[in-house]
Amino acid sequence: MFNLEKIVRPNIQQLKAYSSARDEFKGVAEVYLDANENPFGILNRYPDPQQIAIKKRLSEIKDANENQIFIGNGSDEVIDLAFRIFCNPGKDKALTFTPSYGMYNVSAAINDIELIELALNKDFQINTDVLERYLEDENLKLIFICSPNNPTGNCFKNETIEFILSKFKGIVIIDEAYIDFSTKESFINQLKNYPNLIISQTFSKAWGLASVRVGVAYANSDIIDLYNKVKPPYNISALNQEAVLNKLDNLAQFEIEKNIILNEKEKLEKQLEDVELVKKVYPSDANFILIEVTNANELYTKLVEQKIITRNRNSLVNNCIRITIGSEKENKKLMTALKELSVTSDKVENSL
Ligand SMILES: Cc1ncc(COP(=O)(O)O)c(C=O)c1O
Repeated sequence: MFNLEKIVRPNIQQLKAYSSARDEFKGVAEVYLDANENPFGILNRYPDPQQIAIKKRLSEIKDANENQIFIGNGSDEVIDLAFRIFCNPGKDKALTFTPSYGMYNVSAAINDIELIELALNKDFQINTDVLERYLEDENLKLIFICSPNNPTGNCFKNETIEFILSKFKGIVIIDEAYIDFSTKESFINQLKNYPNLIISQTFSKAWGLASVRVGVAYANSDIIDLYNKVKPPYNISALNQEAVLNKLDNLAQFEIEKNIILNEKEKLEKQLEDVELVKKVYPSDANFILIEVTNANELYTKLVEQKIITRNRNSLVNNCIRITIGSEKENKKLMTALKELSVTSDKVENSL
């Protein structure tokens, strides 16, 4: 049985959260002399520490109540706080799969937590037989599942994720940074079935607000209470809250932009298949495509010379490059460069 109290760090369990001036008084007053603010200017007041307006709006479009939502300074904060809430430094462990998003590793190291990284199989899926051996370890507190996975682009099978959620007695974090681009449903509607589930989403990808740094965690309210206890009091600036609210007010535009990206992805996938240098185009549920090429290091450098920056993932998946879907113009530029480079490499080969 999952027992939240048993897996929270004792010091966090006992922690009394900082109570800010704006936490104590709710409502609208005429005179604010409580927070040592400056009476002049337009950005002189502290922002809402609980980001109520965003949570209210999200609860209308997602399958979650306001008290099941945490707003973070990017999903990187959602990840980092999970380590701080659940993992005793130097003692506990977390687990993820490789290749995946690099911040799980960095965040684990910052928090002095051992991260177990299990290799995905050749279809980039989770090997549950290997995983099962680790699930009984009492010091294993967190499992990160990035689905759709960065950099491979695929989602994991629902039955695998459900198997982990029901077998593991610690916290399972599903990182759904790219879920808006996928035809698969979010796991948010499974919150009622799994008390150990945290879903991480972000405004940085499909919502087009990477510079705003807003991520979201969805979980049952007792987990969200812990997040609220540990976060810095005013973790989301007023400007950033406003940017998110503006986006949430225009869902039609969100859909239009997302569909343009998905269309561009389909075009790019087809075009890449015909490029000589490209050996394999991996299917993608995200806004990027992983391709295998003849020589990733060389191709990456040649593209940089043309001022086109892709992500060389050779160190994670042999000879693979990850390409983000850009605008039509950007994608055309990439394709022109790839075709030219294919011709050049053909010429070199023929002259040998
Ligand atoms: C899987 C995954 N999770 C989280 C993030 C970070 O998101 P944020 O910008 O919300 O911190 C990224 C960014 O690339 C990502 O690929």
